[in-house]
Amino acid sequence: MFYILVAAMALTGIVIVVLRAVSLAQALMGEALPLAGSSDDRGLALFDQAFTPRPGLTLLHIVPGLMFMILGPLQFVAKIRVKHLNLHRWCGRIYVASGLLVGVTALILGIVVGFGGPTETAAVTFFSLLFLIFLGLGVFRIRRSEVSAHREWMIRAFALGLAVTTMRPIAAILLALTDMSFSEILGISFWLGFSLHLIVAELWVNITRTKQTFGSATEKVQQGAPANVTRR
Ligand code: HEM
Repeated sequence: MFYILVAAMALTGIVIVVLRAVSLAQALMGEALPLAGSSDDRGLALFDQAFTPRPGLTLLHIVPGLMFMILGPLQFVAKIRVKHLNLHRWCGRIYVASGLLVGVTALILGIVVGFGGPTETAAVTFFSLLFLIFLGLGVFRIRRSEVSAHREWMIRAFALGLAVTTMRPIAAILLALTDMSFSEILGISFWLGFSLHLIVAELWVNITRTKQTFGSATEKVQQGAPANVTRR
């Protein structure tokens, strides 16, 4: 059930990227985006238009975001790690490079677009830095052949990246239940969505930790022969 949910979130992430790319392409080709200012719009059209003046930065965020959503779930498939370790490594390198781009451009977007004002900028700065730190620790740990610790930091980083999908239903619920503008809702959705994912990741890491850790003898494994790659 949990894995189906994760796959559904990754698929949602792919759809989000495609929709944003289409909307950006339409705007750049001179097609009119929905007009801002209608009474039921609450700032959604303005949000759409905020990306048009920054196509390069937006693409630098969403294309690696797409790679993140495609490769992320595959990195956690035990069969791939066991049977095709080299594939796991190469996909991992692309995944980490994509993650770095996503995190750095998210930091910039949160400041230069920052549609949700200071509430959003604060949330984006905090969670982007956390995301980059988790990713960095994941790489650091596997460079030292600490497979279990690598797995845990990568779960935390992936969970934070996936939060962009949970933010959407949260924003939709707030739009339906309150009179707030979309810019107010965006900041709150960032805080709620990313905090929720951080908590769930920590719970998951803790629940699955006992099954993963076999002790110090197998924790430090030789490069190329990880001891616990068969576990999820
Ligand atoms: C640490 C993770 C991430 C953070 C903190 C983050 C942050 C941001 C920020 C700040 C914006 C601009 C919105 C604004 O400032 O008003 C944005 C836009 C966007 N991000 Fe991310 N992002 C992250 C990861 C991802 C990932 C993994 C994807 C892949 C699906 C993604 C897809 C998008 C898209 C498509 C947009 C354009 C706006 C939209 O269509 O919703 N982001 N992101």
